[in-house]
Amino acid sequence: DKGGHKYFMAKEIGEQPLAIGDTLAEYLREGTPGVTLPEGLDFSAVSRITMVACGTAYYACLTAKYWFEQLARLPVEVDIASEFRYREPPMPEGSLAVFVSQSGETADTLAALRHVAGQGVKVASVVNVPESSIARESDVVLPTRAGVEIGVASTKAFTCQLTVLAAMAVRAAADRGTLTEDRMAQVMAALRAVPGAVNQALSLASDIAGIAAELAEAQDVLFLGRGALFPMALEGALKLKEISYIHAEGYASGELKHGPIALIDPNVPVVVLAPMDRLFDKTVSNMQEVMARGGKVLLVSDGPGLERASDGVWKWLRMPQVDPVFAPIAYAVPVQLLAYHTAVAKGTDVDQPRNLAKSVTVE
Ligand code: M6R
Repeated sequence: DKGGHKYFMAKEIGEQPLAIGDTLAEYLREGTPGVTLPEGLDFSAVSRITMVACGTAYYACLTAKYWFEQLARLPVEVDIASEFRYREPPMPEGSLAVFVSQSGETADTLAALRHVAGQGVKVASVVNVPESSIARESDVVLPTRAGVEIGVASTKAFTCQLTVLAAMAVRAAADRGTLTEDRMAQVMAALRAVPGAVNQALSLASDIAGIAAELAEAQDVLFLGRGALFPMALEGALKLKEISYIHAEGYASGELKHGPIALIDPNVPVVVLAPMDRLFDKTVSNMQEVMARGGKVLLVSDGPGLERASDGVWKWLRMPQVDPVFAPIAYAVPVQLLAYHTAVAKGTDVDQPRNLAKSVTVE
């Protein structure tokens, strides 16, 4: 049942505030301060984390790397499952391996899990299907409560994965005592604010539909972001490719001048994801390099960011103002809506894009 929507993807994008709220309820328990994790997961004994996944789940891991490193001062290595398993990386003592998968059945991720489990490393998994193979073979299971996701393009499962990983990073910070009491209180407040911020971002849908009608004419699109918004740029590009078949690339804003800036011309829209954070001015200067070369920029920022930097951009979208720490979760929404409405404008099969399967159970 598409709940009155044209596609499951639209329904699933709209379900995110609820899905994230349900997921958070699993980790933020009434009457218990801080983050509650399943038994058997204690970060005071962990000295490094290895995260492994495929596709969009991999981008969730890349985002979480910023959180674990910044909040909990834990070194994190992130790998694509199909690379990880054959590289056979060593797992020093104190390693925690985290596997992230909506379906819990992705063949490469499962094979990577079996590779580390055989070495006696503690295995945690973030999965949406609790009875899946990945869940069954893990020492600790951290569920996402996204509900069934039908659209091949992952949306609500992704933001729920981000939510669980954010909660884990907060708990890791608490276990390791890396934040001041004040900062911990702010970060907890930021975590609780995620469903509301995502809900506010959803109100951009009609503005985005207008922009997408023009984006649908493009042959190539670039997505830029810095810090924890860099993985969201990668996700934006993947979503757009996957369902609209428009070629897109995501780059770290600072990497532009090392090659991809050669692609800039008035026919290549550049989507810039830039909440007002400590890296904002740096991202804006990269954006200005694009504009100086005739590139047309879609700036996705908050009120203060737009006030500072929207002069001369092609289009802009006003996001709610949130604590920058978990801003990537809210910024997933415009990225998903852009891909969705562009695909609708192009008339592709949004829920069943060509050549793709919901769950990739072959290598
Ligand atoms: O079920 P999984 O989370 O393990 O799936 C991983 C990828 O196949 C998946 O995220 C894929 O990239 C999506 N189609 C992206 O929208």
